[in-house]
Amino acid sequence: MSERLEIDIEVNGDSHQITALTSATLLEILREALNLTGTKRGCNHGVCGACTVLVDGKLARSCLMLAVDVGDRTVTTVEGIARSREFSAVQRALVKSGAIQCGFCTPGFVIALTHLFASTPQPHRDAIRIALSGNLCRCSGYVKIVEAAEQLAGMRS
Ligand code: FES
Ligand code: FES
Repeated sequence: MSERLEIDIEVNGDSHQITALTSATLLEILREALNLTGTKRGCNHGVCGACTVLVDGKLARSCLMLAVDVGDRTVTTVEGIARSREFSAVQRALVKSGAIQCGFCTPGFVIALTHLFASTPQPHRDAIRIALSGNLCRCSGYVKIVEAAEQLAGMRS
């Protein structure tokens, strides 16, 4: 049986102290304790990428990470990408390209593209595809999502 522990966690620049089961995943804490429901639960098995967040700036599947293991690292969710209610450049590109249908996968794609553009401002199509290869979309066929990234990279007008 899981014990409960006090967990200190920094998410989107805000510090929180919460009590959670030692078995709680980061995804559960984000959605259920912190009400940050932009991070989605798809497969809950590390396959679909819907739960992707940044932990210390690196991509992480929050469904596979125990909250107690986050420790002193900082977490960024999709809510933290659009602070102050302004869409980021990645979000604007996805909207402009019509890359969002049901939108369930979109937060994971936003995080993956934000991570890519942070290190590679002008990625080529292959780099974009590789960066998005861990994220599944059931609706869009990926074409518009890749086009959005290419527009942002300045490869399309
Ligand atoms: S919900 Fe985490 S990878 Fe699918
Ligand atoms: S837009 Fe529906 S799953 Fe991607």
